[in-house]
Formats: sequence, C-alpha cells, structure tokens
Amino acid sequence: MNGIQLSNRLSNFPPYLFAEIDKKKSELRAKKIKFIDVSIGDPDIATPDGVIETLYKASKIKSNQKYALDQGSLKFRTAIKKWFKKRFDVSLCERSQILPLIGSKEGLIHFPLAYVNPGETILIPSPGYPGYRGAALFAGAKPYEMPLLAENKFLADLDKIPLSVRNRARMMYLNYPNNPTTALAPKKYLTEVVKFCRKYGIILAYDNAYSEIYFEEKPLSILEIPGAEEIALEFHSLSKTFCMTGFRVGWACGNPGLTAGLLKVKSNVDSGIFGAIQEAGANALSSQSAYVGKLRKTLKTRRDVFVSGLKELGFDEIYAGSTFYVWVRIPERFGSSIDMAEYLLMKKRIVATPGLGFGKHGEGFIRFAMTVDIDVLKKALKLLK
Ligand code: MLT
Repeated sequence: MNGIQLSNRLSNFPPYLFAEIDKKKSELRAKKIKFIDVSIGDPDIATPDGVIETLYKASKIKSNQKYALDQGSLKFRTAIKKWFKKRFDVSLCERSQILPLIGSKEGLIHFPLAYVNPGETILIPSPGYPGYRGAALFAGAKPYEMPLLAENKFLADLDKIPLSVRNRARMMYLNYPNNPTTALAPKKYLTEVVKFCRKYGIILAYDNAYSEIYFEEKPLSILEIPGAEEIALEFHSLSKTFCMTGFRVGWACGNPGLTAGLLKVKSNVDSGIFGAIQEAGANALSSQSAYVGKLRKTLKTRRDVFVSGLKELGFDEIYAGSTFYVWVRIPERFGSSIDMAEYLLMKKRIVATPGLGFGKHGEGFIRFAMTVDIDVLKKALKLLK
C-alpha cells in the first residue's frame, strides 16, 4: 500500500544502533565474506547446562504452556529475592518489590510510560545504551544528555545540569558498571545521585545489567544506598551474567509503587514470561554461581590479552574496568568514530561499534566487545597492525 506514513513519534527515532550494525553483518554474510564480530554484547559462551535442562523439563509441564502471570511466578521472584540478599545484602519483598521482565531492555523502555508525561524531561547518559533515548521518545518526553566524560571518570556531573532541567526532569537513567565506558560508580557518587533525585523528585531507573561482569571491585546495587528505595527501580538481566541473551529474561526491583506502575504498563502490553524460562531463570540464580566465577575469569583473560595487544599497537587511551567491553579513544587519523568503524569493517573485516552510536559524547571512541574467543581476539589484533 502506497503512502503509508510512519507516526511522527516513530519518524523521530534514530535507527536502532545494533539493528543497523546487524544489517551490515547480514550484507557481509550474503556475500560470504568472513568477519570478526566484536560489536554487540552477546557472548559466544554457552548458557549453563543446568539452565537448559531445567528449561527442557519445565517446558513439558502443562501449566507452563499456558499464559504466565504477568507479575511473574512466585518461584522466580523468590529466587531473585534470595540472590539479591546474598549478593547485595538487600532485602526485597517478593510480592511487592520484584517484577520479572522479558529482558531488562523491555522494562527499561516501558518504564517511562508509567511516570513521564509528554513534554517532560528524561535525563540520559551520553554515551549510553541507545534504548534510553528510545524510551524517552516513546513516552513523548525530551531526552537531556548528561555527558559521561573521561576527565570525570565517566560519571555524570550532576552540578552541570541546569536548574531549569532539574525542575522539569521526571526520570533519570543511569548504568554502572557502564556500557560503553566500562566505568564503575563509587558509593560516594551513588549517594550523591540518590540525594539529587530525592531533592528534585526525579525517578531513578538504575540499569545494573552488568552487575556481575567485574574483575576487581564488586559493583553495588543502587538499593544499597540509603534513601534509594524511595525513588529507584533497579533493572537486572540474566543475559550477561549467565549468557542468556536469547532467553529474554530479567527483572526490575526496588520501590513498591514504581514496581506496581511498571506492572500496570506491562499487564496492558504483554502476557507474562514463558513459565519454563522463569524456571530456567530461577535455576540460574540459585544454582549457577560457579559458572559466573568461571565466566569472569574467561572474560578477564580476554580483556587482558586484548588490552595489552592494543597498547602494543600504540592505542594509548583504553578503558576496560568492568563489563565485557573495551572502550578506546580513536587514533587522530580518523575523522570520526564512524570513519574508524567503516575502515575496520571494509579493510579489516572487523565489526566494532562506533562511539557516536551511543550518543554525541561517545564520539571519539570505539567499542570492542570481548564476546569472542581469545584466538579470534588475537586474530583481530593481528589485523589491526
Ligand atoms: C550492547 O551491545 O550494548 C548491548 O548488549 C545490546 C543489548 O543488550 O541490547
């Protein structure tokens, strides 16, 4: 049918970064051109066997073949509660403070629909996960970019947010361990964030998808910070921790009112998470801690090899503190991060993610994901010579 127009809402959307990169990968595949893919945070490592076995067995159970309750199964919520207590020493009520999600992205993007009116402002980190901008636009809100700069250790400088913006802002997205900069946030900083949000009545959407992908210092939950429970909802994902990206399962937790608001949106949008996936998720959280320890070791070895290889090649500004990304200042000979990504793709057959794709303050950087085997990373380093 000719003349079908996109809504104004969707026409304002920038193309989704990883869908665009995926298109380029498909073009290469169609031409049977081999390439090294270090673009998206989708690890090559298999999901724990116990999780798969649980999924298989649970999918044969008739009740799991029916609509799932939209607030998630009690079994999964109880597993989340126990994991959270053990990991962060934070007690959550499984009935009012935990909401399973079809992946943390789903919850992060639906969340503003519950609380933000058209025309209001949402504070988003730049560079930052592209979904935050999309979430603001879906809600008809105005995204305000908070720069994450190397000189501030990639922590958003709250003092620089103008008073007029603070007063209009309804929500703030924040994410540490940070994608893409790999930064961790110290307790002192998170305490300032909570104080700031409480003072200006800003809801904090704290994306903690990478909480288990650390190598030195253990990341915090925002809910460990006094007062956070009044204003924050924290988002977790099983994707990165248990290499379950395709399962689409995560959760939100924190303030009971905010949990209920998100549930109200979700109950109008989806019909719950496949029960067998929730059982698999419960197995991951309650029985797979050894797997996570091993995963961290593997990722650390990859990171160390890749970072020292980059240093030998003359890259001198490299950030690889946490998460499985390596965030690198592009050499001066490239005019932009897009130029460098194009060069890597066309000349070296390496697919990496240009910093600009994460927002304007990501310009000048490129991101490599340590989601391929060490031999592949070594091959990439050779190609970069
Ligand atoms: C990324 O590569 O930045 C993310 O892993 C993509 C995602 O989680 O959707």
